[in-house]
Amino acid sequence: MIINTELEYKGNLYPSRIIDFKKEVDSAFFYTDNDVILKITIVRDSLLRFRYTTKGYFSPDFSYAIDENHSRGYNHFEVVEEPDFYHVKTSKLDCHVSKADLRTAIFDLKGNAVLEDELGFHWEEIYEYGGNIVKMSKVSKDGENFYGLGDKATHLNLKGKRLENWATDQYAYHKDQEPLYKAVPFYIGLNGKDAYGIFFDNTFRSFFDFCHERRNVSSFWADGGEMNYYFFYGPSMHDVVAAYTDLTGKPELPPLWALGYHQCKWSYYPESKVKEITSRFRELRIPCDAIYLDIDYMEGFRCFTWNKNFFPDPKRMVAELAEDGFKTIVIIDPGIKIDKDYWVYNEGIANDYFCKRADGPYMKGKVWPGECNFPDYTNPAVREWWAGLFKELVGDIGVKGVWNDMNEPAVMEVPTKTFPLDVRHDYDGHPCSHRKAHNIYGTQMARATYEGVKRFSYPKRPFIITRSAYSGAQRYTSSWTGDNVATWEHLWIANVQVQRMSLSGMGFTGSDIGGFAEQPTGELYARWIQLGVFHPFCRTHSSGHHGEQEPWAFDDEVINVTRKFIELRYQLLPYLYTMFWQYIDESIPMLKPLVYFDQEDPQTHYRTDEFIFGNHILVCPILEPNAVGRRMYVPRGSWYNYWNNEIVQGGRESWIDVAFDQIPLFVKAGAVIPKYPVQQYVGELEFDELTLDVYYKEGKEESKVFEDAQDGYDYTKGRYSLRTFTTAGKGKELVLHQHKEGKFITPYNYFKINLIGLPFKVTAVEVDNEEVSLEELKFNIHNTLTVNKDFSELHIKGI
Ligand code: NOJ
Repeated sequence: MIINTELEYKGNLYPSRIIDFKKEVDSAFFYTDNDVILKITIVRDSLLRFRYTTKGYFSPDFSYAIDENHSRGYNHFEVVEEPDFYHVKTSKLDCHVSKADLRTAIFDLKGNAVLEDELGFHWEEIYEYGGNIVKMSKVSKDGENFYGLGDKATHLNLKGKRLENWATDQYAYHKDQEPLYKAVPFYIGLNGKDAYGIFFDNTFRSFFDFCHERRNVSSFWADGGEMNYYFFYGPSMHDVVAAYTDLTGKPELPPLWALGYHQCKWSYYPESKVKEITSRFRELRIPCDAIYLDIDYMEGFRCFTWNKNFFPDPKRMVAELAEDGFKTIVIIDPGIKIDKDYWVYNEGIANDYFCKRADGPYMKGKVWPGECNFPDYTNPAVREWWAGLFKELVGDIGVKGVWNDMNEPAVMEVPTKTFPLDVRHDYDGHPCSHRKAHNIYGTQMARATYEGVKRFSYPKRPFIITRSAYSGAQRYTSSWTGDNVATWEHLWIANVQVQRMSLSGMGFTGSDIGGFAEQPTGELYARWIQLGVFHPFCRTHSSGHHGEQEPWAFDDEVINVTRKFIELRYQLLPYLYTMFWQYIDESIPMLKPLVYFDQEDPQTHYRTDEFIFGNHILVCPILEPNAVGRRMYVPRGSWYNYWNNEIVQGGRESWIDVAFDQIPLFVKAGAVIPKYPVQQYVGELEFDELTLDVYYKEGKEESKVFEDAQDGYDYTKGRYSLRTFTTAGKGKELVLHQHKEGKFITPYNYFKINLIGLPFKVTAVEVDNEEVSLEELKFNIHNTLTVNKDFSELHIKGI
């Protein structure tokens, strides 16, 4: 390749002028005279993929992140040549490609620039590796804001920051520490009221700079691989996040119990200790669905073995726990102990399944069991083997979920905390070094685990949780935010991280409630539970080195707060399940940061603490000690204070008083909130009524309630029940309309309806146009009535 010196600046190389162009099916190719090719693929009218090569040809296309079932197809695609540039047009966008330098600029149909290249694509040759650092820079308009990027422990708005994606075991990380456990190279840009998104699908170590280095420039680059990114056009954040989530995939529905409360510690053993913990939950009547076994359940930390002194008969124990409503979840790490008397090790060696150094020998590293080898989960044969290893654990013993840890992959006693970069990986038939496979390793482990747990749990649903992840991991697994610390600052971090994960397509996430390292005070633990019950994944976990972290480790007041909030979560299970359904069916994030909820209101752009749980509940944690309330921003609209049903008008900051057993919680006016009775575990009770809390609003509002068998796959065959409720309040009347879809018959027969905030006194109720006496509806002074669940329309009238 001849490098034109004008195309080289500060070690960077740039594309030269376009000399040829070709349009093929869904793609346009642009060729420069220094061997750069840009391929623009129209995935959807509002979703374009940009791929660049500097070699004159493209390597085979392969990505672990993209879901093969993502939506594709467009209405319009044409390429029009102008003297200085090409138009690549769809029915939503017009992308200009400059003939002189290959720079691109994307416009909406009104001609507004949505995103323009600054330097655009450029690269640097790194001789150390004999390859390129691939780089992209964009013009950032004044006032632009940035969101996304997975688990970053920093302000929700990433403006002014430089961030790194390199999955890293960061014990007791702190605010702003980089990098963390996950690599999610997806961000959302918000210009004024308009949003777009970028997914840089490159698994090498990558960086994002949001106006940190230069004021009006955003950029991203990676230590190798292709410049390969997807551009999502909004203009709503909802559309951007939904398109990204659709592209990288959604999980299956979890079993409903997985949305219950989980209790964990490093470690509960022996069996008697486990039973003591589970019995205590039942005695104290604090609902709980899952109990975890950390590494000490194994024989010398050998995966797929049991320490028979601590757990003489795991199958019996798991069955007894199940009798009491507890699902057993066990940890499985990637490090396989080097031990000639250990069957997993021997199988791995016999089949050549472990990762190797570039010069031949197996990669050896220290983790809990001492020296280990590590399966190459990027090899499909290894994943298949790994999946099969769960036969006894899940199929025979009856373990219900698997917890994948240390899969960044983490290696002890080395400064890099991970594999040497020369380690080889199969990468599903595209052999490469650890530089490329590192960020995806944890996801491929979780994927293999998911396949195994699913196989042996079937026809029930699997449950997997992982620490490390790359974009797309959500198809297989839930996640947690790693080794946090029992401090108030970490409570703030947990709140931001879980919201950010939700915006980044990976919503089924939670933090170690109370903090993993160190010991929380009772107050901090209580405040953390009060937030944690509003996270999609809800688990207390601690390192156990400093004492107890079960609710009863604290005083009665804390125990009562814990019970009250976990009970609230159990009541809200149908609401939580419905938000999960909307996440997988409509790609709607389960938690909505305020900026997502109302991007047109600039007041939301820098908020971090408040978020919307599902569609209708506004949550704001208490993040400081000794609080008797806090200031918070209530977004625009009318909201009911959950604790006293007083109505507040949003669009302003307010002081909200709260007692120790409360946090600011508001319900959007017009919402219908479904509730189950409190159960000690999912499925404990049979009940004949579903409670619906109906919050009056002058005007209309829609709410959904999704239900099914709570486990199994019948829902995929249409056996689910999806109710859409529309409330319409007008003067002295309220109409509640119900539309029902799906073939599942819910086991209860009645709705118990609580009418909240009615601005009138009820005098008459019509059910499907027929007046029914208030007596028959068991109407009482609290504005509560009971009605058959099959109604289509309730007409509530008053004076
Ligand atoms: C590190 C994990 O992050 C933590 O949750 C776990 O308890 C320990 N490893 C021990 O397995």
